[in-house]
Amino acid sequence: MTLTLVKAWTAAKDRLKDAGIDQPSIDARLMLEVAAGVTRTEIVTDPYRELSAEQIATLNAYLERRARREPVSHIIGRKGFWKILLQVNKNVLTPRPETEVIVDEVLKAFPEHMAFSMLDLGVGSGTILLAVLAERPAAKGLGIDASSEALAVARENAANLDLNTRAALLHGDWTTGLGSDSFDLVVSNPPYIPTEVIDTLEPEVRIHEPRLALDGGPDGLAAYRELAPEILRVLKPGGLFAVEIGYDQSQAVEALFRAAGAGEVRTVKDLSTHDRVVLGVKNPLETPA
Ligand SMILES: C[S@@+](CC[C@H](N)C(=O)[O-])C[C@H]1O[C@@H](n2cnc3c(N)ncnc32)[C@H](O)[C@@H]1O
Repeated sequence: MTLTLVKAWTAAKDRLKDAGIDQPSIDARLMLEVAAGVTRTEIVTDPYRELSAEQIATLNAYLERRARREPVSHIIGRKGFWKILLQVNKNVLTPRPETEVIVDEVLKAFPEHMAFSMLDLGVGSGTILLAVLAERPAAKGLGIDASSEALAVARENAANLDLNTRAALLHGDWTTGLGSDSFDLVVSNPPYIPTEVIDTLEPEVRIHEPRLALDGGPDGLAAYRELAPEILRVLKPGGLFAVEIGYDQSQAVEALFRAAGAGEVRTVKDLSTHDRVVLGVKNPLETPA
């Protein structure tokens, strides 16, 4: 039996729709691209190209996994974020579009050729650190994660993007062992989902994403309580911080950073107009009169 790209896409879409998948058309296309080794454009411009038997078998295996609610990113092993493509697997949080708000704010604050040092706490697959370094050629960064498996993914991504000379990736517990007044910029997308809420989430998240990347303790704020004073400690005076938050955490997280001594604390919304990132600065040292 022959199967063309257009027929394969339609059949895959129908199969995912029957399985109750939310965005069957997009998911079907992403898996077809990888299974058939074609680009999105080729599916449209060369719709009658035939798939080989091996490509059909690969696509079928992908569809079966997706019908069992495994995330597409895990099945195809990659996810686009900002302007980079990241390798991902079950050991890292799948990079989310809302996290791009941090990258956007950082790029606005640090001009293209500025040399600066950045720290990414809970670096995961390398998402924020690598997206920023890819756009700021004079910057250097350190990514910390408590998961060795996540760090292996981040290292692979740094090498693939030719950023391994400017990105150091270390195993650690947040800022433990880092010196004070060390970084011009600190970013973090810490775990912030209240423990009880995790079990109510979609299977793609609750079953397939690492707990360590999700669980923010009883009220979702456990990581920020630790991070606020520590981020202020490791930042250089005048340095900037930006942390991702849950949609209802702005007030609480802003208060934690203000209590830790941060200045100019504010919240930025994402494209869905949800509160998404809390930003602020470590106040510069007073110059004696
Ligand atoms: C929400 S994920 C964010 C990953 C990545 N920055 C992103 O935005 O895609 C949080 C990350 O924090 C890491 N993490 C959790 N607790 C940590 C700790 N105590 N010290 C360092 N990293 C930690 C997790 O392993 C996970 O990779």
